[in-house]
Amino acid sequence: MDIRDSLEIGCIRLRSRIVMPPLATEKSENGHVTAELCEHYAKRAENSLIGLIITEHMYVTPQGRASRYQLSIADDSVIEGLKRLTDTIHGEGNAIKVFAQINHAGGKSTPELAGEQPVSASVYTYKDSMCRELSISEIHRIAELFAAAARRARLSGYDGVEIHSAHGYLLDQFYSPLVNQRRDEYGASSLTDRLRLHKEIIEACSSKVGRDFPIAVRLGGCDYQDGGSKEEEAVEASELLCSYGVNLIDVSGGMNGYIIPGHDHPGYFREMSAAIKKAVDVPVLTTGGITTVEQAEELLCSGCADLIGVGRALLKDPEWGLM
Ligand SMILES: Cc1cc2nc3c(=O)[nH]c(=O)nc-3n(C[C@H](O)[C@H](O)[C@H](O)COP(=O)(O)O)c2cc1C
Repeated sequence: MDIRDSLEIGCIRLRSRIVMPPLATEKSENGHVTAELCEHYAKRAENSLIGLIITEHMYVTPQGRASRYQLSIADDSVIEGLKRLTDTIHGEGNAIKVFAQINHAGGKSTPELAGEQPVSASVYTYKDSMCRELSISEIHRIAELFAAAARRARLSGYDGVEIHSAHGYLLDQFYSPLVNQRRDEYGASSLTDRLRLHKEIIEACSSKVGRDFPIAVRLGGCDYQDGGSKEEEAVEASELLCSYGVNLIDVSGGMNGYIIPGHDHPGYFREMSAAIKKAVDVPVLTTGGITTVEQAEELLCSGCADLIGVGRALLKDPEWGLM
């Protein structure tokens, strides 16, 4: 097993096993792509070890905006800029693939960013701002917003889309029992209910973009906190997500973000991703703490994942891993 081995995700083929995971740059202007942003990605796209770039999270609606300079995929005016971005990443040979990460920040937004009181699965307070609970009809609308964003991603030249359900954002708020206290069919009483919105989003995206456009989910599998989601649930959750039509499981952390508090060893989510890989028949991506090619190869060879994400090391050095 070599990081240069190719891999199929749905109907597309990656040239290698190294992925640049989504890394917010805060380089957009009013949600639109800038020249500086294209340049940032162009430098990494030249790295021949990378098979897939998943671009930074984009908000599917201003209500779900996470930060001031975040990219938008909330209306058609962004398509032209996103086309420039995907053209830049693809380059002449189209050798590297690019997915769009689409997101709703839910209760992690603020009234200033969202232009209204932030919404979530249940009421909770984040950084002094209290969100309100979504109604059922509003939940249905969220699925439509994700599907519209997936359509825009396809029109913008992306090769696939990644639904963000990690790091404490809206879909993670539905998945995590730390936030989700609902008593209806989207509630905390079963894993199926905690993933009902995910199912509706995946189905809505599939019907909008077609089965020949891969759909990934970044799953914040475990909260690493008392009362939160657990690693064992991440396995069952991944099986459910695959049964809804997902083509790639991207393993990361939940309400604690992209780290495990107190752990920074290479591939710190390896146990969780290995357990998920055993249970599902789609590729699994693991990211966290990987800084060398040797570490990436070791994780691949020991069956921890099919794809290896390299984040901060690629931010630091676009030529990461090249001799
Ligand atoms: C500056 C920065 C921005 C990030 N932005 C995103 C993001 O937009 N979406 C996401 O899912 N993860 C995001 N992450 C998490 C990374 O994708 C990755 O999971 C994390 O950095 C751990 O991997 P690493 O140890 O290789 O850096 C971000 C991380 C950093 C450091």
